[in-house]
Amino acid sequence: MTATPTTKGSVYVETYGCQMNVSDSELMLGRLAADGYVEAPTPEEADVILLNTCAIRDHAEQRVLGRLGELKGVMKSSAVVGVTGCMAQRLGPTLLERARHVSLVIGPDGYRALPALLEKARTGERAIETSFDLEEHYEDFTPRRFDKVKAWIPVQRGCDYRCTYCIVPTTRGPERSRRLADVVREVEGVAAEGMSEVVLLGQTVNSYYDGEAGFADLLRAVGRVDGIRRVRFTSPHPNDFSDDVVRAMAEVDTVCEHVHLPMQSGSSRVLKRMLRRYTREGYLDCVQRLRDSIPGLCLTTDIIVGFPGESEDDFAETMSAVESVGFDDAFTFKFSPREGTPATRMPASETVPDEVATDRLDRLIALVRAKARNRNLGLLGQRREVLVERAARRGELLQSRTRDFKTVLIPGPESMIGRYLTVELTGTTGSTFTGAPVNERLPLPVA
Ligand code: SAH
Ligand code: SF4
Ligand code: F3S
Repeated sequence: MTATPTTKGSVYVETYGCQMNVSDSELMLGRLAADGYVEAPTPEEADVILLNTCAIRDHAEQRVLGRLGELKGVMKSSAVVGVTGCMAQRLGPTLLERARHVSLVIGPDGYRALPALLEKARTGERAIETSFDLEEHYEDFTPRRFDKVKAWIPVQRGCDYRCTYCIVPTTRGPERSRRLADVVREVEGVAAEGMSEVVLLGQTVNSYYDGEAGFADLLRAVGRVDGIRRVRFTSPHPNDFSDDVVRAMAEVDTVCEHVHLPMQSGSSRVLKRMLRRYTREGYLDCVQRLRDSIPGLCLTTDIIVGFPGESEDDFAETMSAVESVGFDDAFTFKFSPREGTPATRMPASETVPDEVATDRLDRLIALVRAKARNRNLGLLGQRREVLVERAARRGELLQSRTRDFKTVLIPGPESMIGRYLTVELTGTTGSTFTGAPVNERLPLPVA
C-alpha cells in the first residue's frame, strides 16, 4: 500500500483566457495534488498562487498585471506566486523584472517541471521554463476537473495557422495532436466517472491529425464511447471542415448541433490581410454546407473590428455577413495589436482610430443581439432536451443547456445537476431562456 503523501501546502489557481487554459489549470492542479498539495479556496490562505494567463489582447494582460498588484497586498508573505500560460510564455523573464513578488514563470509546454520548479521557488529561488515541447500532451497527468457535468478534453496543442493579428502561435507553439487512442481512453475515463458530455479542445480543432486518424475519425470514436451523450468541440477553422468531418458530425448522434465558427471579418479584403485563408464566399459556403447537413444547427462566431486598414465598406461587409448568417451569438472584439505579430508591421496610416473601432463595435453588438433575439423568440414554445449543468446565479434556479447550446434556466433542486430532461422554452431575455420541465408521459398537445 502506498502511503498518502504528506501535505506540502495549499495551492490556489486563477484561470484567464480560453478553455484550453481551463483544461491546463485542471492538469496543473491534478499534478500538484499528486505531489501532495491541497487546493486553497482563496489566495489569502494559499502557500502557492498560480495565475494561468492569457495574452490574446492587451486587456487580458492588463487584468493579470492589475491582479498581481492586488495579490501583493493580500497574500501570505511566505507565499510563492507563479505566472503560467500564454502571458508567461510571451513575456518570460521580463515578468520577473516587472513583478518582484513573482518567482515562477512557466509557459504552456512547461507544466511537467512545475513540481520541481515550485520546490526551488519555495526555497527563495526564481525559476522560469518557457521552452516548447512538441511531444508534450501531459498524458500521465490526472486532471482535477472543475466541472462535474462536462469534461474538457484537449486533443491538440499549438497552432500552425499564422493569422496576422494573433499571438497564439507564439505562445503555444506548433500544432500537434494527441493520439486517438489516448483521447478515447480519457473519454472512457470521464464516462466511467459519470460525466456524459465532453468538449474536444484545440486552436483549430478540426485540423486534428495524429499521423493516422483525422478529426472525422476522432468524432466517430469519441461519439460512440459508452455513457457519452454529448460531444462538442471548439474552435474549428472554416478551412478544415472537410466533407468527411461534416458527414461525421451529421452521422454521429452524440455530436451536438452547435458549431462555434470564427469568422473574424465579412470582408474578403480584410480576411486576406488577416491571413485567414478563406474569403467571405468561402466562409458563407462553409456555413451553408454545415446547415445543409445538420438540421437545426446553432452557429456562433468570433469577429474582430478595427483591423488595420478596415474601411467603412469593409465593416459594412461584416455587418451584411452577420445579417445573412444570423448567428445565434458572437464574441466581438476590437483589434488589439500584439507585439511581434505581422499586423503590427502594417503602415501606421492604416490604424483604425479607437473611436471609429468603438463605434463599429457598438453597431456590431447591436446587430448581433437583435438577430439573436429574433432567432430566440422564434424558438419559444419548442421542446428541447437539456442537461442540467449547475445552480444558476439567480436564486433557486438551475442552469441547463440544450444540445444546440442555448442556456435554459429551470426550477428544481440541485440534485438534478447532471441529469437530462425535456423542457418547454417558455421565455427569453433575448439571449437566455427560461424553461418548464415537461412530463413526457403525458400526450403531447396537438400543435
Ligand atoms: N484559434 C481560434 C481563436 C482563438 S483566439 C480560432 O482561430 O478560431 C479567440 C478569438 O480572439 C479569435 O477568434 C479572435 O476573434 C480574437 N483575437 C485574437 N487575436 C486578437 C487580437 N489581436 N485582437 C483582437 N481580437 C483577437
Ligand atoms: Fe490564432 Fe489564427 Fe491560430 Fe486561431 S487559427 S489561434 S486566430 S493563428
Ligand atoms: Fe489566451 Fe492563450 Fe487561450 S492567448 S485565448 S489563453 S491560447
